[in-house]
Amino acid sequence: MILVTGGLGFIGSHTCTRLHESGYDYVIVDNLYNSDISVLDAIEKTTGARPKFYNADVCDPSALEVIFRENEIEGIIHFAGYKAVGESVALPLKYYRNNINSTLALCEAMDKFGAQSIVFSSSATVYGEKNPVPYKEDMPADSAANPYGRTKIVCENILRDYQAANPDKKVTLLRYFNPIGAHPGGLLGEDPAGIPDNLFPYILRVAAGKLERLNVFGNDYDTPDGTGVRDYIHIMDLARAHTAALEHLKKSGGFNIYNVGTGKGTSVLEIVKAMSETIGRPLEYVFAPRRPGDIATSYANVDKAREVLGFTAEYGIEKMCEDGWNYARKHFNL
Ligand code: NAD
Ligand code: UD1
Repeated sequence: MILVTGGLGFIGSHTCTRLHESGYDYVIVDNLYNSDISVLDAIEKTTGARPKFYNADVCDPSALEVIFRENEIEGIIHFAGYKAVGESVALPLKYYRNNINSTLALCEAMDKFGAQSIVFSSSATVYGEKNPVPYKEDMPADSAANPYGRTKIVCENILRDYQAANPDKKVTLLRYFNPIGAHPGGLLGEDPAGIPDNLFPYILRVAAGKLERLNVFGNDYDTPDGTGVRDYIHIMDLARAHTAALEHLKKSGGFNIYNVGTGKGTSVLEIVKAMSETIGRPLEYVFAPRRPGDIATSYANVDKAREVLGFTAEYGIEKMCEDGWNYARKHFNL
């Protein structure tokens, strides 16, 4: 049995559908801080099976105790955490407390109840601003630009130290690049509360007529068209990276880190163009000043995930736009 923390969130919910498809038994724990219970229904409708769900805080050892006693947990996928970069600057302690305490509580539960493995949601943000692209797993990853990113660095180190002291435990860090898109069934996707910070959900709101136009943050970067370049990966590809990691853990151990991206960079204007084609009309945008803290270019070296996990992302930008738009139309009743 796999424990999926934060399983009702964007990445967790899509990964649950993939776990189901691959025949894994899993149980979800989520405190609904950044998700809605209706996502459980959407997972059920998408997979045909209602997952077992605990509405609980992963930082709470007594809640974890109940879950571990009631289920034979062999492995954990730890998605639960706070992820809003701007808020983490204003409220760093909130971010350190939740992201670090949840990770500590899970390691302690692994010790107490004997679970063997943990897959942790890390981020490309740990590569900071000094490494050259493409980012490689063995580059220094100790200088994120904001408290959110620094919680990821701390958690990576906690898990590294924990595994070193407990060689029978298995730890896999997945450093995600930019997941976008939605499940092709259209019932699961990403719809953050309030005005979205991130590019893709913002674009979907503009496409859906909920926001007037996109602000393109910066057109004078040192990139082919002057706008920021990122490694966007389809959320279903990212979900599949988790089952690839679990499969690999069945036959291996130790501490491992993998980038999860496509290895290709795409600019903001290229995404705008692709989405315009998907919706059949030009997506409105204006150029705006650079967003503080943004870097010009981020993309992954994906050799290690391919060679060790046998994982390669399949989908391109068009499919990401198509599935994202399919979700938005259903979600916004268009
Ligand atoms: P999300 O906010 O959609 O999902 C996180 C889920 O965890 C939410 O459902 C939330 O309610 C839950 N949660 C938070 N704290 C909890 C706690 N203490 N106890 C129980 N549940 C709790 O975020 P996401 O985009 O699905 O991201 C999942 C993980 O991946 C996060 O750790 C995030 O930092 C990491 N990550 C995300 C991205 C991205 O672009 N989305 C990129 C890199 C890394
Ligand atoms: C975000 C997170 C980062 C995380 C990464 C990986 C922020 C600030 N950073 O980074 O911690 O590791 O995802 O998933 O949230 N853009 C616009 N207009 C907008 C929004 C974005 O032009 O309204 C541009 C940005 O300048 C950037 C690109 O779009 O060039 C992608 O931005 P975003 O989706 O926010 O992701 P990242 O900044 O890469």
